[in-house]
Amino acid sequence: MKNVIPVINHKLKGTITIPADKSISHRAIMFASLANGKSVIRNCSNAKDPNSTLSVCRALGVEIQKTDESTIIINSNGKFHPVQNILDCGNSGTTMRLMCGILSGQPFNSTLVGDESLSKRPMKRVIDPLSLMGAKIFAVNNCAPIQINAGKLTGIKYSSKISSAQVKSCMLLAGLQADGETVYKEPFLSRNHTELMLKYMNADIEYDGVLTKVRPSVLEPREIAVVGDISSAAFFMVAATIVPDSDIVIKNVGLNHTRTGILEVLTKMGGNVEILDENIVSGELVGDVRVRYSELNACTIEGEIIPKLIDELPVIAVLATQAKGTTVIKNAEDLRNKETDRISAIVNELKKIGADITATPDGFVINGRTPLNGGVEVATYHDHRLAMSLYVAGLICKKEILIKDFDWVDISFPEFEALMSCLL
Ligand code: S3P
Repeated sequence: MKNVIPVINHKLKGTITIPADKSISHRAIMFASLANGKSVIRNCSNAKDPNSTLSVCRALGVEIQKTDESTIIINSNGKFHPVQNILDCGNSGTTMRLMCGILSGQPFNSTLVGDESLSKRPMKRVIDPLSLMGAKIFAVNNCAPIQINAGKLTGIKYSSKISSAQVKSCMLLAGLQADGETVYKEPFLSRNHTELMLKYMNADIEYDGVLTKVRPSVLEPREIAVVGDISSAAFFMVAATIVPDSDIVIKNVGLNHTRTGILEVLTKMGGNVEILDENIVSGELVGDVRVRYSELNACTIEGEIIPKLIDELPVIAVLATQAKGTTVIKNAEDLRNKETDRISAIVNELKKIGADITATPDGFVINGRTPLNGGVEVATYHDHRLAMSLYVAGLICKKEILIKDFDWVDISFPEFEALMSCLL
């Protein structure tokens, strides 16, 4: 495993193009595998998580060709012919939870397994509603390995207590194969890439805010161009906002309104963010974003916005250390169920470098503006987003920090360091 030392006190200047969205890449690979015919996915993410989805679909007998690092051709007849029934999801919660929905309605048995972190993450949130649809699922303590037996599903009306796109997508994918209609409701709108892509592939789906209805459908193959990942761009947005004299342009950023919480927060705190150009690509809004160094004020982040920035909260904690006043983050208890407990992890590591941050059961409280001292080693907790958040903090430390096991960034963003060095 590699250790990394971020370059301190160096402004960020220039233009980068952000690589493909991880959530959309997973869905493009899965949905093209379910479609009847040939799909072409352009600009697909080559990170480890989407590659886990790709190998699971291959293990299910789908013909998948990678013509280069980011172009994938999928030939399917809409049916799986499993060549393996133990399916390895690696570190990827999205692969495991969405595949649960797909596999529950299949005429064969399968078992989903994952790495140490994924094997500890809660799966009851998908097992319970799928079981109500008639799925036959077995998992000790509701954790992976998850055994899914051949089954027939019936559509249900389900009102989820959590706003999770993984749970919603799992249920909608099960609903595509169920008898009758499946109706899903969530408290706040979570990312809607599944709804948009299913519609784009001609599924019988309707959605209006937090309510989605789906009926049995065969997906049509498509050409899908994946837009850039705003969750990856967020590290650069925060870096340019907090490193003095920075001025950068990030091209090809996905701007789906269910993902743009980071832009809302940056603007609310006084950040200098500008959208330069907007377009629709394969049903998703995309644009270029210019970000400049700014003086910031604290704010409260809670309620409806949380699902729109759930993955950005560790780097928002870094941002808040540089804002004047007290930033409070609430209603984010699900952060404790991510690749690691991201509340404890970011609080522990930012404290080591001099931040005034305290954990609460459902978030954290940060008093700013505090200079970050550095001069220590920090840990990534085997979590890609922790690693990149600490890297951004490292850019403004007075003394260098050493980030242990930095290779975990490959889970979502293998290009991170190379793109950072383009701006320094
Ligand atoms: C994802 C949804 C989010 C997010 C994860 C990817 C997705 O999880 O944290 O990184 O692709 O649907 P939840 O839906 O469980 O909040």
